[in-house]
Amino acid sequence: MKIVVIGGTGLIGSKVVNNLRKLGHEVIAASPASGVNTLTGDGLDEVLQGTDVVVDLANSPSFEDKAVLAFFETAGRNLFAAETKAGIKHHVALSIVGTERLDNGYFRAKQAQERIIRQSGIPYSIVHSTQFMEFLGAIADAGAVGEETHLSTGAFQPIASDDVAAAVADVAAGKPLNGIIEIAGPERGRLVDFVKRYLDKKGDTRKIVADAHAKYFGSELDDQSIVPGANPRLGKINFETWFSSQLQKA
Ligand SMILES: NC(=O)c1ccc[n+]([C@@H]2O[C@H](COP(=O)([O-])OP(=O)(O)OC[C@H]3O[C@@H](n4cnc5c(N)ncnc54)[C@H](OP(=O)(O)O)[C@@H]3O)[C@@H](O)[C@H]2O)c1
Repeated sequence: MKIVVIGGTGLIGSKVVNNLRKLGHEVIAASPASGVNTLTGDGLDEVLQGTDVVVDLANSPSFEDKAVLAFFETAGRNLFAAETKAGIKHHVALSIVGTERLDNGYFRAKQAQERIIRQSGIPYSIVHSTQFMEFLGAIADAGAVGEETHLSTGAFQPIASDDVAAAVADVAAGKPLNGIIEIAGPERGRLVDFVKRYLDKKGDTRKIVADAHAKYFGSELDDQSIVPGANPRLGKINFETWFSSQLQKA
């Protein structure tokens, strides 16, 4: 099949491109650098000619509430206008477990992206992932309160980007689900404990405070908010194995 990966140069996108090429597909890694821009529409009609599947792994350069909503709404509208013209048979997107449960700027933008997908009339699959392990440092930084770092005690089940990319590639190579599949890491614990393990391993001594009311990007978490329901696809890479692989890459 001819598969276009929008955001094919990103963390997940570049891995999905490699995985799909290994499966023998003709894969194009599309991004502004290669002349394909979902915000302006540039390059979309050309790249989608003769394409069977579109995998959207783009992300907004800004996470500010209005900017991220504008990114996913505008990109979605431009993408589906071009996909409809090109007769795309399957649209795959990566979103977040719990998108529908949390009311914060980034999650609202992902809800808008999903709404546009469902209304597009194009067969689709939405992969709902938990947080990437690669995102742990950013979560720690976002919890800064003065000299301390306040982090939620809510349930958390991060997944390694290699496991995310394997799942997205499998979904893209398969039939449209016209629904959502949830994916998560192999281990569930408290958000604060995962981040502390990560910082300890890095020798980062900042003071961590476990706080049931600490907000995760604007929302309090409970033990359901950002973890999957029954029967998610679980990744194989646990936190320790993932951390060792990061050290080898450094
Ligand atoms: N972080 C998490 O824990 C998490 C969890 C679940 C789901 N997700 C979702 O996973 C997806 C991928 O995230 P990621 O971390 O892999 O992203 P990333 O590394 O930041 O990569 C973003 C990609 O989007 C491309 N891009 C940016 N603006 C674009 C535009 N106007 N038109 C076309 N492409 C554009 C970038 O191209 P350039 O390199 O040329 O800028 C890059 O290839 C996101 O949709 C995110 O919401 C994230």
